[in-house]
Amino acid sequence: MLLELKDVRVHYGKIEALRGVSLAVEEGEIVSLIGGNGAGKTTTLKTISGLRPLTSGAVLFEGADIGSMAGHRRVRLGIGQAPEGRGIFPGMSVHENLLMGAYARKDDHAKELAEAYELFPRLAERRTQAAGTMSGGEQQMLAIGRALLAKPKVLLLDEPSMGLAPMLVQQIFSIIEEINRRGTTILLVEQNAQQALQLAHRAYVLETGRIVKSAPASDLLDDPEVRAAYLGGDLGVADAPAQADTPAED
Ligand SMILES: Nc1ncnc2c1ncn2[C@@H]1O[C@H](COP(=O)(O)OP(=O)(O)OP(=O)(O)O)[C@@H](O)[C@H]1O
Ligand SMILES: [Mg+2]
Repeated sequence: MLLELKDVRVHYGKIEALRGVSLAVEEGEIVSLIGGNGAGKTTTLKTISGLRPLTSGAVLFEGADIGSMAGHRRVRLGIGQAPEGRGIFPGMSVHENLLMGAYARKDDHAKELAEAYELFPRLAERRTQAAGTMSGGEQQMLAIGRALLAKPKVLLLDEPSMGLAPMLVQQIFSIIEEINRRGTTILLVEQNAQQALQLAHRAYVLETGRIVKSAPASDLLDDPEVRAAYLGGDLGVADAPAQADTPAED
């Protein structure tokens, strides 16, 4: 197992944001974590990357307990994150932002730099532009590109589709699929459950700090409770006759 959380509890002061979360990600997988606002998705990713301390439980990476390891050391081990809200450096150029992703590396990053520009041609066109003046979608691409420069074994993505126009959402999801196809394991947090479940191999549903379901992603797409809560309500109930005025989902 590449990444494993065992009965993880995390607090913000007295608020228990994670109430015993257990999940696992195997090498090569795309695993999706879905759930509503405040469910604890971002907290889960921050706990994996070392930005939030554990109250109890364990985080294992390649079998080793990393629960109390500093964040920058986890990056070096191969845990990469494109954070919620993107977290790019606004005053630095696109190119400089990408290089920041390789900051912790001592080996050559030329291959990953070329790959980031290849996956995101828009970044190549704008390599000297100040990152803060890039559009929201472009900044999202930059955040993912920067994470790739660290050459992660697992890439943690926090709502990469947030705020993007539908066409760009499609594009981001297909790039995530391509990144996975090239060998990077992905843990994807999304509120865009339909797309996330179509992309992922397996998924977990998080509600108020607890995992309430875990299954192959295609099973969750057909799960009536998941459909009702996260996939647009009863319009999508399995076996319901197609309605003429229901927009096609593709
Ligand atoms: N810095 C903080 N201080 C206090 N409480 C926090 C803090 N960050 C998160 N929380 C609380 O922890 C819980 C989980 O938050 P988290 O950000 O992990 O949710 P989320 O699933 O990512 O939600 P969203 O979909 O809105 O991004 C929420 O109840 C939130 O209010
Ligand atoms: Mg969040």
